[in-house]
Amino acid sequence: MSLDSNKLLEQIKELPAMPNVIVKALGIMKDDNSGTKELSDIMAYDQALTTQVLKLVNSAYYGFAQEITSVNKALALLGMTQTRNIIIAVAMKPMLTSQGGRDMWKHSLKCGVAAEYLANKTGVADAADAFSIGFLHDIGKILLNIADTMTYQKVKTMVRNGMDVIDAENELFETNHADLGFLLAKKWKLSVLLANCIKYHHDPMSSSMPQISTLAYLANKISHEEPDLFDEDMVKEQLGLEINQIMQYRDEINEKSSALFATLNAS
Ligand SMILES: [Fe+2]
Ligand SMILES: [Fe+2]
Repeated sequence: MSLDSNKLLEQIKELPAMPNVIVKALGIMKDDNSGTKELSDIMAYDQALTTQVLKLVNSAYYGFAQEITSVNKALALLGMTQTRNIIIAVAMKPMLTSQGGRDMWKHSLKCGVAAEYLANKTGVADAADAFSIGFLHDIGKILLNIADTMTYQKVKTMVRNGMDVIDAENELFETNHADLGFLLAKKWKLSVLLANCIKYHHDPMSSSMPQISTLAYLANKISHEEPDLFDEDMVKEQLGLEINQIMQYRDEINEKSSALFATLNAS
């Protein structure tokens, strides 16, 4: 890791705190004895979240036949892990949109859907873990924007002009969003798996968990609006997926994430 990741973190006087509702929700998930009752209690304090969850559960993304009007019913139908994913997605929206714009929010959501989808298809990761990995993979970018918005805009321009994102960040910040995201994940006490995938989503073969890091890598690549080149041999070796299969998955992921985005974006 670049020494300058720590230097940049020192520059930022106050690191963003993980939204409180996520901290609480993740705490409950780790405890086997608590359940949907506790989760619905948390949501009772957050009307915006409740509204979003109900909207989502009634959206085309889940496709339940009848209208679901109560949180308890929604939780029972979705289960704990899906509910956790929705909470993460909804609770992170303000931070992601304020620091990275709507594009970052959209890309994160799509990457969460992609990672979950790829995990289901390949079996290399738990689908619920995969959603959080995909959703949070670029979280380090918010630190670059907080540290120096003008310079970060220059990075974006360099990337639009074809430069590799990690190279551009290293050049202008002497650190990059993968290393910074790893530090933030540790500060937020996210799981080792999650922190590792955040750190290596641009360089999965350097990870001690190459298979799941490759899943994060591929989810990111196919979540860009423009088709992005990726290392087909590595993906085939790690995930057992062929290019034509991946392109078909990409279409299905686009459809799924559009349904999800339309629902969450509307409010
Ligand atoms: Fe990234
Ligand atoms: Fe990304």
